[in-house]
Amino acid sequence: MSPPLFQAPIGTHDVLAPQSALWEGVVATFAEFAYRYGFTLILTPMFEEIGVFNRGIGENSDVATKEMYVFQDRGERTYALRPEGTASVVRAFVQHQPTIPYKAWYVTPAFRYERPQAGRYRQHHQLGVEVLGSDDPAVDVEVITLAWRFYQSLGLTQVRLLVNSMGHDECRGRYIDVLRGHLEEYREQLCDEHRDSWSQNPLRVLDCKKPECVAVTDVGPMLPDFLCADCASHFDSVRGGLRDLNIDTTLDPRLVRGFDYYTRTTFEFVAEALGSAQNAIGGGGRYDGLAEQLGGKPVSGIGFGSGIERLLLAREAEGVTSPLINRVTDVFIVDTTGSDAATVLADLLRGQGLAVERAFDGRSMRSQMKLADRSGARVALVIGPQELATGQITMRDLRSDDFEQAQVSVAREDLSAALLALLNK
Ligand code: HAM
Repeated sequence: MSPPLFQAPIGTHDVLAPQSALWEGVVATFAEFAYRYGFTLILTPMFEEIGVFNRGIGENSDVATKEMYVFQDRGERTYALRPEGTASVVRAFVQHQPTIPYKAWYVTPAFRYERPQAGRYRQHHQLGVEVLGSDDPAVDVEVITLAWRFYQSLGLTQVRLLVNSMGHDECRGRYIDVLRGHLEEYREQLCDEHRDSWSQNPLRVLDCKKPECVAVTDVGPMLPDFLCADCASHFDSVRGGLRDLNIDTTLDPRLVRGFDYYTRTTFEFVAEALGSAQNAIGGGGRYDGLAEQLGGKPVSGIGFGSGIERLLLAREAEGVTSPLINRVTDVFIVDTTGSDAATVLADLLRGQGLAVERAFDGRSMRSQMKLADRSGARVALVIGPQELATGQITMRDLRSDDFEQAQVSVAREDLSAALLALLNK
C-alpha cells in the first residue's frame, strides 16, 4: 500500500522560493527598523500555560473562547499555542524584570482556529514590537511611527491609520456602563450572536461587523466622549506628535480591538488596496494593566503586531514588485573533470562573499549549462579537463547574447579580480 499523500493542514501554508525571498526581505527590513529604533530581539516559547492568554487577552475574547489551540501535554498541564505575541512578551518581562523601558521586537507564528479565507489563516506570522515601562505619549508616537515607516519602506502607499483611545479603567468603566444601558435597550435588534452575549463584554459589540450591530452601536455612546482629562490629553499628544511627523490619523471611535488588555491608545493600519475584508495589515495599542494581570508590578506597555502574509498581499494589491532583498546567484560552477575542483573553487568564492551554485552527480556539460541558465546566475565558471591541466578557468557571462564576447579564459590567479569586474559591470 502506498503511503498517504500528506498536505499542510487547512488554513496553513508552505512558503517556498521565490516567494520565500520576499519573506526574508520583509523580516530583514523589519529587523533593521527595530534596530534603528532601539529594540532588541526577544524569543519566547511558542506555547504557554493557558492562563497567560486567558488572563492576558481576556477569557471572554473571541480568540480565547473560540480560536485558541489548547492541548494537554503528557504531564497533563494545559497549554495553548500562542494566538498572538503580546501576552508572552509581558509574561517574560514579568519573569525576568529587565531594565525599563524595555523595548523588544519579535517575529513569530501565531495560531488561531479561524475560518480560513484570503488573508486569514490558522497559522499566520507576525512581526511586532512591545515597549514596557513608560506611558509617555512620545512612546506611542515612536511605536506607531516605526510601523508607518516600515510600511513605507516596503513600498506601501495606500495605508490608512485608524486611531482611538480606550481610556484608563475609570473612564472606560463609565463608558461601558452607559454602553450597557444602550445595548440593553436595543438588545432585540442585535445580531444573533450578540443578542445573547452582549452583556458579557459589551465592547465586543462595537467590533461586530454585522449590519444589525453596526446600526445599534452607530446611534449609541462613543468612547472618545467619555475620556477623562488625562486620557484625552494623552490621546491629543499622540495625535499631535504623529501630525508633526506628517503621519495622518483617522479617528475611529469604534476601534476597541479584539483583546481585553487594551487601554488608552489603540490603532490599526488598513491597506486600502485590499478591499474591505482582512485589510488590517497591523494593529496594536497600550496595555497599561497587563503586567499586573500577569502577576507583575503595574507597568505601562504599548506595541503592535503586523501579519507578514497580509503585508505581502497588500504589496501585491498595490502592484509593488521591489524584491526587498538581493537573493540572486552570482556564480554557477560547471565542472566536468570528476575531481574536487568545483568543491574547492566554490569554497573559495563563497569565502569571498559570493553566492555560488554548482551541479552534483557527474552531469554532462550540456546538463550543467542548463542548470546554470536556470539558476539565474550572472556568470558560469567552466572547468573541464583542459582547464584543469592548464590552470585556467573559462568565465562565461550568462546575460550576454554575444557568444564570442561572452566567454573568456582566465588564469586561476586572476580569477577573483576578473570575476568582480564582470559582476560589477
Ligand atoms: P491583532 O490585530 O490580533 O493584534 O493581530 C495583528 C495583525 O496580525 C493583524 O493586523 C493582521 O495583520 C495579522 N493577523 C491576525 N490574525 C490573522 C490571521 N488569522 N491570519 C492572517 N493574519 C492575521 C495582535 O495580535 C496584538 N498582539 C497586537 C499588539 C501588539 N498589541 C499590542 N502589542
